[in-house]
Amino acid sequence: MSALLEADGLSRHFGGLKAVDGVSLTLDPGTVLGLIGPNGAGKTTLLNLMSGCERPSAGRLLVDGRDLTGARPWAFAGAGVARTFQIGKPFRRLTVADNVTTGALYGAEPERRRSAARARCDAVLDRVGLADRADARVAELPVAAVRRLELARALAQRPRFLFLDELLAGLRAADIAGIIDLIRSVRDEGVAVVFVEHVVRAVFAVSDSVVVLDQGRILARGTPDEIAHDERVIGAYLGRRHAERHQARGGGEPC
Ligand SMILES: Nc1ncnc2c1ncn2[C@@H]1O[C@H](COP(=O)(O)OP(=O)(O)OP(=O)(O)O)[C@@H](O)[C@H]1O
Ligand SMILES: [Mg+2]
Repeated sequence: MSALLEADGLSRHFGGLKAVDGVSLTLDPGTVLGLIGPNGAGKTTLLNLMSGCERPSAGRLLVDGRDLTGARPWAFAGAGVARTFQIGKPFRRLTVADNVTTGALYGAEPERRRSAARARCDAVLDRVGLADRADARVAELPVAAVRRLELARALAQRPRFLFLDELLAGLRAADIAGIIDLIRSVRDEGVAVVFVEHVVRAVFAVSDSVVVLDQGRILARGTPDEIAHDERVIGAYLGRRHAERHQARGGGEPC
């Protein structure tokens, strides 16, 4: 299957700081790309570039061969890109359903009628396990439900590319396992998922391939197993104990 989204030599500099420095990668349908690396490695900035939230200093972005370099977020949304944010950005004074309905009104296949958008919202809420919280205000939700809401809003856009930025931070094992199952089911529908996460076990459990960023550059890429045993990655990020635990579990469960 041909690549859908291609980043070619993508860079983003802030003054003298090279937050993203010459990154090339492709996103394929029905795959999960895990994106890991130390704090400040450039993971969020790379997602920002690939969703139009930041403009690259250099490099190109192609979606289905169409040049979207420097395009605005709504152009990326129209091309099928949806994302969650490391610092969640729900409309806190709206209800859960109203938040998710906004997702159905934008994106690659926006609903024209509000009733249709609401129906799509209800289906997504059902899928993420929030159907019984549809009328709750976001401010009333526990953190695990807010993360599911973020995911639901992105799914309501019917994305072809789904970027998840630290969706699991601070969640308990049971909540993590539920979200991992959802990510797998989204991938199985043909979506290209980019999964940025410090919960490395979860990344290894769900990713087809893993890219390790360090100081804006790709330090390593490979299968989860290759990355878990890569000496450079162990030195820069994982540490030796993690690699040993990965081996003992034989790849293992997400949490
Ligand atoms: N708007 C900005 N202006 C200046 N510097 C920035 C800006 N955004 C990010 N940076 C810097 O770019 C580098 C990469 O940041 P980024 O947030 O992409 O890292 P990250 O890999 O997502 O880190 P974390 O794991 O902590 O979320 C950091 O040094 C950060 O301080
Ligand atoms: Mg980040």
